[in-house]
Amino acid sequence: MMKIRSCGERMSTVVWLSAFIATCCVATAAGSKTFVCYYQPSARVPIASIPANLCTHVTYAFAEASKNGISPAHTTDLAKYAEMVALKKVNPNLKVLVSLQNGFPAIVDGGVTVMETFANGAVSFLRKLRLDGVDFDWEFPSKAQKAGYMKLISIFRKAISDEAKLNGAASLLLTMALANNKYIAGWAYDMSVLTQNIDFATVMTYDFHVFNAKHDNVTGYNSPLVAPKGESTYLSTVGMLTFYIKAGLERSKILMGVPTYGRSYILADNSNHGLHAPAVARGAPGPAIHVHGVYIYQGICMALKSGATRVWDGAAGVPYLYHDTAWVSYDDEQSVMGKCKWAVASNLGGIGVWSLTLDDITGTCTGESFPLLRTIKSCLG
Ligand SMILES: *[C@@H]1O[C@H](CO)[C@@H](O)[C@H](O)[C@H]1NC(C)=O
Repeated sequence: MMKIRSCGERMSTVVWLSAFIATCCVATAAGSKTFVCYYQPSARVPIASIPANLCTHVTYAFAEASKNGISPAHTTDLAKYAEMVALKKVNPNLKVLVSLQNGFPAIVDGGVTVMETFANGAVSFLRKLRLDGVDFDWEFPSKAQKAGYMKLISIFRKAISDEAKLNGAASLLLTMALANNKYIAGWAYDMSVLTQNIDFATVMTYDFHVFNAKHDNVTGYNSPLVAPKGESTYLSTVGMLTFYIKAGLERSKILMGVPTYGRSYILADNSNHGLHAPAVARGAPGPAIHVHGVYIYQGICMALKSGATRVWDGAAGVPYLYHDTAWVSYDDEQSVMGKCKWAVASNLGGIGVWSLTLDDITGTCTGESFPLLRTIKSCLG
């Protein structure tokens, strides 16, 4: 791992100069890094309050892939896309994309003609709504569907390249969200097809542990930077990103996935509250949103303010908290900064955050809204 040193450190001129070239210029290059903020529509975070200056790309999650192109999940979504495009008044460089999750099997299983119809329909849809591109988030193709999915990706790239040439416009973007699991990644994607055809992909380096009574019944980290002792390296951010790099996905096209939410557990015994402690269930809904097993960052800060204990695991690069029988693995400014520095030092393309909606929108944590997004922005430049 390359070490990033502060340029303010005292060094001789020669050492300083070479250090400047080695480190400061990496930081300058980071100015062009991609920062994708996935947006989940929510009454809590209206589109007008999206911090458009913090992200380079905002991706609406989700719409559906359909044989004729793109189908919004709800008819009211068309107005929401338009509101997102209007955020360019705040940040003229912002790119606005829509992410597709369902609907791929019928297209891929339909063969080349269906794939081409889908691609052409999607291009018309995106242009008509003045969107900048599409994100493919099929979770996940089977082994038998891999070849078809890769064919679809090549067909889509050809469609957007041809359209750009024809209209003398900048090409629409094709981005992806990729599995956090090496077996799925192995059977679902051909890395050379991805490198050749996509603009970039967010690897979903989170949800490595989610409580499950049968096979994940001890406390575990949602998104460690490095796997804790005794766990597979592939249950970590560095392990999975390294897997993709070694498998041949070009570094500059890889975005590290960073979560703004934590995963919670109920401890079997409140006096046994470390990592890998026995757990009996997903946690009760966090204080900020009412979903079992999930704490958004605002809820984390509320828990810490009402007496929860934070523990920093320096080896894994993430914190956790416990409070009576509640136990939560999460990310905060410290872990997010550590991850971001690793992404920059490893020459990745940037970061994709799931999601901007789950960051602390109210400023409960630090007094400033969106503290995790701000941390990433300050790191990427
Ligand atoms: C807890 O998980 C382990 C695997 O990690 C499994 O062998 C065991 O049976 C599980 N316990 C229960 C009570 O299901």
